[in-house]
Amino acid sequence: MTEVRPGIVKAVIPAAGLGTRFLPATKATPKEMLPVVDKPAIQYVVEEAVAAGLEDVLLVTGRNKRALEDHFDRNYELEHALSRKGDDQRLSLVRESADLAAVHYVRQGDPRGLGHAVLSAASHVGDQPFAVLLGDDLIDPRDPLLARMIEVQQERGGSVVALMEVAEEQIHLYGCAAVEATAEDDVVRVTDLVEKPARGEAPSSYAVIGRYVLEPQVFDVLARTAPGRGGEIQLTDALQELAKSDAPGGPVHGVLFDGRRYDTGDRGDYLRAIVRLACEREDLGPDFRTWLRDWVREEL
Ligand code: UTP
Repeated sequence: MTEVRPGIVKAVIPAAGLGTRFLPATKATPKEMLPVVDKPAIQYVVEEAVAAGLEDVLLVTGRNKRALEDHFDRNYELEHALSRKGDDQRLSLVRESADLAAVHYVRQGDPRGLGHAVLSAASHVGDQPFAVLLGDDLIDPRDPLLARMIEVQQERGGSVVALMEVAEEQIHLYGCAAVEATAEDDVVRVTDLVEKPARGEAPSSYAVIGRYVLEPQVFDVLARTAPGRGGEIQLTDALQELAKSDAPGGPVHGVLFDGRRYDTGDRGDYLRAIVRLACEREDLGPDFRTWLRDWVREEL
């Protein structure tokens, strides 16, 4: 008889990083609030969680948290002004983000790393498996990843990370996984993890990207994980422990992802996300594509 595993209903979205790669834009605004076309990056991420069936969302916030809280709250003044003008379309856009999900907040006092941000979610999450979605990592909704990760966690138990093959000269920017094949083409067993490996020391070309489905035992491991690379408490270090031992919370599997993904905390990727998503939009796309084609032909 197959074991019935507890369902996954909660999503944790860390959004408390300093965003130094995007200064000065992120001096007073969280990078997760930077617009991608006309929606802040974090809204795409919350929509992705909801699309995967997770309607309890915990945002881990830091300084400048006001903008995040306001975005997922009602704005009666704006709603009143739009409704007076009869602008129903914009009115529904303004209400949409407030009605998306039950959004909760926890404050990460000091940004001591992603592992520390996840640890601050412990009391909200409780003792069920949960998902983590990085607030600056955009996965194209046409390439659903999280739903597949949840499925793999429900089938196999333990924890699940998302892995993407990257070029050799890029792997030192990511956590990197050593893997073994399984009977399923898109699922591997993770045997080891290294955070931002030095050049030539990566165990594979598989980078860990910003989606995780974790067992709550990860909190016990994080609580005793010492600061690692960059003096930060690294989620990768805690997952390495789960991957290596038979401890509760493991094993760790990886779902291989080859869809469209943008790291909006990186300026180059942020620009690519905007151009691509704007080109594909029904309202903006036709004019923007024409302009872009002419501009590339004439100026580049
Ligand atoms: P990054 O590694 O991109 O960190 O975090 P960062 O410090 O914000 O960015 P840079 O390198 O200075 O530009 C990945 C995700 O984890 C969150 C970030 O907000 C982002 O969504 N994070 C990171 C936290 O919530 N707390 C932390 O202490 C670190």
